Amino acid sequence: MEKREHFSSRLGFILISAGCAIGLGNVWRFPYITGKYGGAAFVLIYLVFLVILGLPIMVMEFSVGRASQKSAARSFHVLEPSGTKWHITGYLAIAGNYLLMMFYTTVGGWMLYYVYKMICGEFVGTTPEEVGGIFNSMLGDPAAMTLWMLITVLICFGICSLGLQKGVERITKVMMSFLLIILIILCIRSVTLDGAGEGIRFYLIPDFGKILENGLGEVIFAAMGQAFFTLSLGIGAMAIFGSYISKEHRLLGESMNICLLDTLIALMAGLVIFPACFAFGVDPGEGPGLVFVTLPNIFNQMVGGQIFGTLFFIFMSFAAMSTIIAVFENILSFSMDLWGWERKKAVLINGILIIVLSMPCVLGFNVLSGITPLGAGSTIQDLEDFIVSNNLLPIGSLLYLLFCTSKRGWGWKNFIKEADAGKGPKFPQWSRFYVSCILPLIILFILVMGYWQKFFA
Ligand code: PHE
Repeated sequence: MEKREHFSSRLGFILISAGCAIGLGNVWRFPYITGKYGGAAFVLIYLVFLVILGLPIMVMEFSVGRASQKSAARSFHVLEPSGTKWHITGYLAIAGNYLLMMFYTTVGGWMLYYVYKMICGEFVGTTPEEVGGIFNSMLGDPAAMTLWMLITVLICFGICSLGLQKGVERITKVMMSFLLIILIILCIRSVTLDGAGEGIRFYLIPDFGKILENGLGEVIFAAMGQAFFTLSLGIGAMAIFGSYISKEHRLLGESMNICLLDTLIALMAGLVIFPACFAFGVDPGEGPGLVFVTLPNIFNQMVGGQIFGTLFFIFMSFAAMSTIIAVFENILSFSMDLWGWERKKAVLINGILIIVLSMPCVLGFNVLSGITPLGAGSTIQDLEDFIVSNNLLPIGSLLYLLFCTSKRGWGWKNFIKEADAGKGPKFPQWSRFYVSCILPLIILFILVMGYWQKFFA
């Protein structure tokens, strides 16, 4: 059998895993739910969950990937005790990666479309109503939405088709570096705006009264969900990158680096958005439209707004595309691991498949807008997001966790041996009780709360 291709460097591994984690979850979802739940106090709770929940599960995913040297499609077959059925988790993971892309490519397309609109100056001199109108007319135009989704898919599969080192690693490294630079420029611009101070206070000084206004339970639930989503946990999306590295470094240290980068970018994205909102009198609790409907207004009122607006949407596009590339890499390796396909063949077939599968989401905003699967006003995108974020991510994380801690799975000893191979901080032994007994309960709680909120609250 052909030897598995590995990353060329440790930096490559860290930046690509961070690229997978850093995505719409950081730059679009995080700011709007932080706005909705009242700012700094929410951020604090979210940070706690990243550490107590996200970090250990990330170490587990990487361990399973590295020990098996396979993608999620095959890793459980390799590691499970014979006769057990853990490999069903692999099929859930496959479904999760496809389902995520079924709506993510559409939003990625919106970001690219907005770069184009910004460059063309389409927002110059428009009123707030007109800015909202531009967003809505995009949603109502199936041809434009299909075109930009297609461009997104073609670029990202194109990069993957060049191979792991020459495509994914080389291009993602460049994109992530640019992303950091653009973000720093935008941060400086935003915090030096007149009137930015109030936004910075909202964002950085906790006001626990605001949390109680929203209901503590709901805020905690939102913070937990965000922690899973932003770290890409539960569907093997991160595990694959564990299969591309050697045993030189302990996996806790690597996971800490990735969590830190992810958090840094999310926090900085907030630092761009909130001061600007307050400086120009925009409500930060606006919801999912925050980025598309309110920010072009802000750039309109800003000196040099067209340039900063273009930079902002380039930043958004890079974040979205680095995630799409990482998930495509997963999807490709599923078919390469399962059926031994060549990369080129996998790209061709999966490329067509993803384009077809992305169509319901695209059409759900216009031609098929009569379909409202989660109640009045909801879209096909909402349904797909719900299946992934509220079901597959927590269920998958729970299964990874049980696999790594249960005697009937891969087991704690094997897990620790793998996680602690190499240099760096060890996975703490004292955490065993917490990880194997408390953490599963926390995840179950998220799952049940998610259903409750969606269907009964
Ligand atoms: N972490 C990605 C983001 O923040 C989303 C994601 C979730 C990617 C799950 C892969 C798996 O946008």
